[in-house]
Amino acid sequence: MKSTNFYVAMLAAGLLSFSACNQSTKQSTKMTDSTTVGQLPAASGFEKTIDGKTTKLYMLKNSKGVQAAITNYGGRLVSLLVPDKKGTMVDVIAGPASVDDYESAKSNYYGALIGRYGNRIGNAKFTLDGKEYKLPANNGPNTLHGGKEGFDGKVWDAKQVDATTLELSYTSADGEQGFPGTLKTTVTYKLTDDNALEIHYSATTDKNTVVNLTNHSYFNLNGCGSGSILKHSLQLAADNFTPVDKTLIPTGKIAPVQSTPFDFRKATTIGARINEGDEQLKNGQGYDHNFVLNQHTLQTPIATVLGDVSGIEMEVFTEEPGIQFYSGNFMKGEFKFKGDVKDDNRTAFALETQHFPDSPNKPSFPSTELKPGQTYKTTTIYKFSAK
Ligand code: GLA
Repeated sequence: MKSTNFYVAMLAAGLLSFSACNQSTKQSTKMTDSTTVGQLPAASGFEKTIDGKTTKLYMLKNSKGVQAAITNYGGRLVSLLVPDKKGTMVDVIAGPASVDDYESAKSNYYGALIGRYGNRIGNAKFTLDGKEYKLPANNGPNTLHGGKEGFDGKVWDAKQVDATTLELSYTSADGEQGFPGTLKTTVTYKLTDDNALEIHYSATTDKNTVVNLTNHSYFNLNGCGSGSILKHSLQLAADNFTPVDKTLIPTGKIAPVQSTPFDFRKATTIGARINEGDEQLKNGQGYDHNFVLNQHTLQTPIATVLGDVSGIEMEVFTEEPGIQFYSGNFMKGEFKFKGDVKDDNRTAFALETQHFPDSPNKPSFPSTELKPGQTYKTTTIYKFSAK
């Protein structure tokens, strides 16, 4: 964007957010072109005591006026206001507006930090150093997103470091949800001046264990509550993906995306092939698959998504070897979102950076083991622009 246009856009954004702050209602307002004028939700909806700990809403803001709201209940990203092609601030995070509503919608993991093990572990067990560890099954026969009481339901200790940085910590006791070792976890959310949200994960253990942390934000780049995401275009730098069985556990194969509906190497709309009679699409009831990234450094985006109405583009950078692309197939319109809308089917998508599902049972996949003395460290960045 040219600097004059940028200035005009920022001025418009500033005026909008100013007027938004002066409205009595905290709900988002629908625009005629079906993008949504974003506002941060009321902090009061996030003040609660759970397990003797206080939950709150924390606000981050960069010098460009981009804002993020994060709650320490599950370390969830609640809102992210970024400018669209007209300079209007749009909340690209789909999810509820209060802790109560997040608790009701717990099964969908809206915005949450996921641990100890993001994605599935087959048959709710794994063997490490010759010992079998049994986990709670919470997704058919499998363990999903850390088990029945994963990190998404924990109240994290929060430290607001400065206007753009929030540090969240949680210590998971040895044996919690069946996993060995005391896992000390810190996740830092940082908003940068190039309109990127960085998520830095780190963890240590006092016994050999497995760990796979991620964030489960649901995005709608036209704005939370603006309808289907099927016309968003998606590009993924992945020549291969990991096909799954009917319970969404990888078969162990690394399969080429070539000539399948999983080929997103050129930008393609999410909806273009989603209803094809492909066996893998049937297993996932749409896209709910791990893609094997061609490279995973913070230098090159591995995913690029464009909101068809807003012109908002999101680039994803990660150090993780995989990404789960989930097209919101299990959203059923049963829970409440910000702006008084329902979480209707496929009105948001997730791109969860991760090690591959079921790695503890798949020796050929990159290892998720963490040993005492080592530090698990990984960064994922979601970067926004508009065109
Ligand atoms: C993950 C899973 C999906 C679904 C969602 C939450 O993305 O892969 O199958 O369970 O979480 O609804």
